[in-house]
Amino acid sequence: MESKCDTQEKFKQLQKFIDSMEDRRGALIAVLHKAQHLYGYLSNDVIFYIAEKLEIPSAKVFGVISFYSYFTTEPRGKYVINVCLGTACFVRGADAIMREFEKILNIKAGETTEDKKFTLSGLRCIGACGLAPVVMVNDKVYGRVELNQVKAIIEEYQEEA
Ligand code: FES
Repeated sequence: MESKCDTQEKFKQLQKFIDSMEDRRGALIAVLHKAQHLYGYLSNDVIFYIAEKLEIPSAKVFGVISFYSYFTTEPRGKYVINVCLGTACFVRGADAIMREFEKILNIKAGETTEDKKFTLSGLRCIGACGLAPVVMVNDKVYGRVELNQVKAIIEEYQEEA
């Protein structure tokens, strides 16, 4: 559980980041990235705050968030597992890899485990087609993933958590 201090610290970091922007109106995407990086997702409070600070209508901010699949307004797990579902990965079995993650984690793509450790989702091509099929866990890339590796990938993070 996050303490009040952590929340205030993150808020200060966001404030500082926005204040450091020279062109505030043109900074929306960068600010949303920063906020999602800090909080893991974009809550209504954060969205309204950003809109006010950047002097942008909040409807526009919501519009940008829904346009980019990267942004989320739902809390995500500590580890976000992204299975690439682009063409090269798909033809090399990404679909079966996704189903294996779903089976082991007991959730569907787009969902988060009850303990908030893992969120499972699909991605379009991440530009590493030579390594297909590709899975990402947060920023770490796994290439040429085979079905029998899925369990080990999950366990790597279960031990870490
Ligand atoms: S299709 Fe998966 S990395 Fe390109």
